[in-house]
Amino acid sequence: MPIGIMSAMREEIETLIHEIEVSDKVIKGMRSYYKGNLWGKDVVLVFSRWGKVASATTATHLITDFNVDEILFTGVAGAVNDTLKIGDVVIGDPLYQHDMDASPLLEPFEVPLLGKKYFETDPLRNQLLSEASSRFLSDIRSHFESGVPEAFGIEDPKNLIGPVASGDQFISKRTQIERIGSELPGVLCVEMEGAAVAQVCYEYHVPFNIVRTISDKANDNSHIDFPKFATDIASRYARGIIKNYFRP
Ligand code: ADE
Repeated sequence: MPIGIMSAMREEIETLIHEIEVSDKVIKGMRSYYKGNLWGKDVVLVFSRWGKVASATTATHLITDFNVDEILFTGVAGAVNDTLKIGDVVIGDPLYQHDMDASPLLEPFEVPLLGKKYFETDPLRNQLLSEASSRFLSDIRSHFESGVPEAFGIEDPKNLIGPVASGDQFISKRTQIERIGSELPGVLCVEMEGAAVAQVCYEYHVPFNIVRTISDKANDNSHIDFPKFATDIASRYARGIIKNYFRP
């Protein structure tokens, strides 16, 4: 059965579409699903669009219509932890929905009826992704024209496995980041899809993993050059890490 690869960045999926031997393209619910072979593996590629609803519906289609038996999400994230720098890689585990709050009926962050405040990702695949990412980062300059990583302030990027918080908000204000950092201590970065896809995968018993490249510090500058970062940096990260993951 194929591996579903999804991204909330069109640029990342387009880079992978250039590499896939496409066997079929299916349009459903305003998404294009590309079936085919990518570096020796059966895959379905899809650009999910942004946010929890967009990504949850896309993940559901991947599982129920395309029979994927594993979902891998790639994308960018804003750093919450001060030690993270632009260009670092976070492999998410576990994933919180930072905007889930049914209190006083339930505890903050608890997902109704599941009794869970977070979703875990597949541990073995996280190790394989971490190795794939470390290999990519150790040789990062070979994937870019000279000076491109440095132009984005990327010098000596590192790779971590750790908690990620998702919500339907682009985080760019100090008050937002302080709330998330204090209510969910240990969270490394924020994004807008991971925990929603993780919930779908949990409910369907499908292994889930997620790789995020730090694109910004979730502050006043977080929107600057966002599309350029996706095209010039994040799509090369996605390509390099997934290629290493498929060909250890
Ligand atoms: N994805 C990348 N940067 C982000 C941010 N600052 N907030 C939410 N999602 C993001």
